[in-house]
Amino acid sequence: MTREPVWWQRGVIYQIYPRSFADSNADGVGDLAGITSRLDYVAWLGVDAIWISPIYPSPMKDFGYDVSNYRDVHPLFGTLDDLDRLIGAALVRRLRVLLDFVPNHTSDQHPWFAESRSSKANPRRDWYIWADPRPDGSLPNNWRSVFGGSAWTLDPATGQYFYHAYLPEQPDLNWRNPAVREEMLNTLRFWLDRGVDGFRVDAVRQLCKDDLLRDNPPNLNWRAGDNPYDEVLPVYTTDRPETMEIVRLFRRVLDEYPGRLFVGELTLPIERLMRYYGASVGDAIDLPSNFHMIYAPWEAPVLKALIDGYEAALPSHAWPNWVLGNHDQHRIASRVGRPQARVAALLLLTLRGTPTIYYGDELGMVDVPIPPARIRDPFGRNVPGQERDPERTPMQWDGSRFAGFSDVEPWLPVAADAGSVNVRAQRDAPASMLSLYRRLLRLRRETPALQTGAYVAWPASGQVLAFERRLDSQRLLIVLNLDASPASYALNGARGVVLLSASGALEGQPVGGNLSLGGDEGVVIQLEG
Ligand code: GLC
Repeated sequence: MTREPVWWQRGVIYQIYPRSFADSNADGVGDLAGITSRLDYVAWLGVDAIWISPIYPSPMKDFGYDVSNYRDVHPLFGTLDDLDRLIGAALVRRLRVLLDFVPNHTSDQHPWFAESRSSKANPRRDWYIWADPRPDGSLPNNWRSVFGGSAWTLDPATGQYFYHAYLPEQPDLNWRNPAVREEMLNTLRFWLDRGVDGFRVDAVRQLCKDDLLRDNPPNLNWRAGDNPYDEVLPVYTTDRPETMEIVRLFRRVLDEYPGRLFVGELTLPIERLMRYYGASVGDAIDLPSNFHMIYAPWEAPVLKALIDGYEAALPSHAWPNWVLGNHDQHRIASRVGRPQARVAALLLLTLRGTPTIYYGDELGMVDVPIPPARIRDPFGRNVPGQERDPERTPMQWDGSRFAGFSDVEPWLPVAADAGSVNVRAQRDAPASMLSLYRRLLRLRRETPALQTGAYVAWPASGQVLAFERRLDSQRLLIVLNLDASPASYALNGARGVVLLSASGALEGQPVGGNLSLGGDEGVVIQLEG
């Protein structure tokens, strides 16, 4: 890195799913005033920025990722004034605010789409992607929707199909159209002018599709029972070469405002992900989201290969980032179990790169089983087993009936264990997950080598993963036992003292020779010399 680290390189991002964080007006759905009322907690936790999933007017077919007005706030969440108050309250607590920008598609209830579908001659027809049926009347091609079925829906009035990467209620914008570009770039300016610190940009890989509408090729590894979306390879619908041009348009707008952050949601193999950093510092996306740790089996050799491979693939100007959970993925404590989730917290907060914490993971919140009648996510309704509601349940603030989230029955069920797994129960308990997160965040903040030091690989051994973070003479060794059985790890002559351990048991102990770790134990060691 050739320049001084900027705030988001040193910092930690905390993702808030606004429907589920705090309900201030007793309607069962979280809102902006609720978030504002909880900012003291967020600041106390010790993160640097919040990213709030979409808050715009929306028919909520995809819970806000179907925007019907890009420049306002959904009444469920409050008003623009509420957002201004939130930004102001964040500022005094030194918290940055990132909004979610959803440029790939609008809601079908957006006035632009109403105009577009009204006739082939409408000036906004070309704001969306329309195609004729094939001569035999069938679908334009074999493109699939991520949320199930064809990506094309027939509009009977005009006899053409429109394209939607997600739901039919989320028609894709046509980013080849200069008027779409201009309008959407001005939307970014609208929010930047209100003082937001940047954006998490949704579904970046979907932005451009093949102009010749070529069929996607079959995926020969697909087996019956796999997600139907994966039956063809989305080579003509995602990660198209033109996408970078759009990304650079966003970048240039962000550059009109100093210090803003551009996070891009990109589910791509590592080598393709790296292209989105662009050619030099600040050329394209600051943080193309790295979801690989979510998909990788939780095994030391696999994670080591992933981390080493990711570090090696990063262009020299690029800054890494790591994600363990979000509103689309099963919670980490459900994936690896609560005891191991403590080790996962150590990993997330000691790796080189900006971490994103998903709200509630700091408590060890788990996926909440949702009775079929209460499944709200359209993905889960269309493709059984894919529902994302379990990881979107209300934040657990205290042991009261609705976990302090709301005074009324929330939109999704509260976890059965919220009586004991909640902020109030954990905040003063030294051994709690929340205390572990808080101590890790403090250690990271106070330790330059953890914030910006180099990553130095150490050998993995069995299910023990180890790596070093190094800055000038400061050297920290992180050793993580990814298994529930005890393990030992040869320190190969290195000596030091344990600064923090997942269980708390080893803190302050000098170590050298063979390090013995209990099951689900992990340590941060300050190395000597
Ligand atoms: C992104 C969001 C997801 C949403 C989809 C469509 O993947 O993270 O929640 O459903 O885009 O906007």
